[in-house]
Amino acid sequence: MSGKEDIKNLLKRSGYSSTAIEYFIEKVNVGKIEDHDAYFVYTGPCGDTMEIFLTIEPGSKVIKDAKFQAIGCAGAFASGSAITEMIKGKTVEEAKKIEEEDIIDWLGDIPKQKIHCVCLAKKTLKFALDEYKGG
Ligand code: FES
Repeated sequence: MSGKEDIKNLLKRSGYSSTAIEYFIEKVNVGKIEDHDAYFVYTGPCGDTMEIFLTIEPGSKVIKDAKFQAIGCAGAFASGSAITEMIKGKTVEEAKKIEEEDIIDWLGDIPKQKIHCVCLAKKTLKFALDEYKGG
C-alpha cells in the first residue's frame, strides 16, 4: 500500500469523511494570493495558525478567489479547503453568515475532537472579511 493510501485509511479510521480526506490529501486551495483584497492570519487556542487570502470584486463584493495556508492538523486543512470552496461566488455578506455547522455539513464528517479546527477556519475567514475595506 502506498503512503498516501495509508494516510487515507488512518484518517478514515479517525472519523474523517471522504471529502475531508480528499481536501487534506490534495491540498485544495492551499496557497497564497499575492495581490489579495483581504487577508488575515489568526492563531487559535490550540496554537495552530491559519491565513486566508481573498480576491473580491469591487462593487458586487463577490469573492472571486480564496486560498489559505496553515500550520496545523488535518482538521485545519480540511476546514480551510472547505471554507475557501464554499465562499467562491458568494458575496462578502453571504460569506459572513457561514457557521461551523455549515462547514461540517459541507465536509460530511469530522472527528468530534476536531470541531475547534473548523472554528479556526471560520474565525480566520470572519476576520479577513471584517478587514475588507473595498467597495
Ligand atoms: Fe489545532 Fe486542529 S489541532 S487546528
